[in-house]
Amino acid sequence: MRSLISILDLDVVEINELISTANDIIDNPKKYSEACHGKKLATLFFEPSTRTRLSFEAAMYELGGNVIGFSEAQSSSAAKGESVADTAKTISCYADIIAMRHPKEGAPLVASMNASIPVINAGDGGHNHPTQTLADLLTIHREKGGFDNLTVGLCGDLKFGRTVHSLIEALSRYNNIKFVLISPDELKLPSYIKKDVLKKHNIEYKQVSTIEEVIGELDILYMTRVQRERFFNEEDYLRLKDTYILTPEKLSGAKADLSVMHPLPRVNEISVAIDKDPRACYFKQVLYGKYMRMALILKLLEVTV
Ligand code: CP
Repeated sequence: MRSLISILDLDVVEINELISTANDIIDNPKKYSEACHGKKLATLFFEPSTRTRLSFEAAMYELGGNVIGFSEAQSSSAAKGESVADTAKTISCYADIIAMRHPKEGAPLVASMNASIPVINAGDGGHNHPTQTLADLLTIHREKGGFDNLTVGLCGDLKFGRTVHSLIEALSRYNNIKFVLISPDELKLPSYIKKDVLKKHNIEYKQVSTIEEVIGELDILYMTRVQRERFFNEEDYLRLKDTYILTPEKLSGAKADLSVMHPLPRVNEISVAIDKDPRACYFKQVLYGKYMRMALILKLLEVTV
C-alpha cells in the first residue's frame, strides 16, 4: 500500500505514467467512468480549499466512486481534541483512500503512518502540495512538450509557498532546468530547499526582487499568492501582499510562448486583464489537476483499466 506525501514519493517514470494516464482520461473519459465503482474517497480538509477538495471529489465521481468527508476541522472530532493518528485509524474503517489537507506540516505523514489505506497529502502548512505539482506538471508537459531546458521564474511567497517547494523538488530531476527566484527579502526560498534540492542537484538559480528585470528570460512564470494565513503579524502581511502584481505592461517584454501559471486562489497577483492572454495557463492547471488526481487515485488503489 502506497501513500503520496511528497512529490518525491513518485519517480520520474511514475510521473510520466500518470501524465499518460491523465492524457488518456482526457481523450477517453467513458473508459474510466466505472473504474472505481464501489470505492470510497475520504476528503479530510482541516484547512479551506476550493480546487483541491472539489477536484478530488469530482475525480472520484468521474471514476464511478463515492466520496465522504469534511471540509473544516470544526465539523470533525478534531474540534474535541482527537489526534490525526486516531482520525486516520477511524477513517480507514470507512473509506478506501484519504486525501488530507492540514495546517500543520507533517500531519498527512502522521496519518499515513497510522492509516491502513493510502493517504494523499492535499497540502500541509507551508511544506508540500504534491497533487498541485501533478497539476502543474501536466500543464507544463502539455504546454512545453516536456520538462528539460526550461527557465522557470517563481514569484511571490517562496518562503511559505508549499506549491513552489513541491514544484522545485519535481523539476530539479530534469535536465538543464534553471530557476529564477523572484521575492522580497522576507519571503525568500527557505535555505533547506536551496541546500537539499538546488545545490544537491547542481541546479542553476538566481534570486532577484523584480519581475521586470528577468521577464524576457523566462519560459514559465509561476506566480503565487502572499498567504495571509501563514503570517504571525498582520502588519507584515499588509506591507508585502501587493509586492507583485502581473499586468499586461509587465508582460510586454516576455517571450511569445511564455506560460503564466498560478496554483490559485489569486488575490491581486495577476491582473484579470491577463486572463484572455493565450499565455495564461492558470485555469488549465485547475482542469488538469482533476485528471492528474484521477490518475493518482487509480494508481494508489491499484486499479487497472
Ligand atoms: N491550489 C489550491 O490548492 O487551491 P485550493 O486552496 O483552493 O485547494
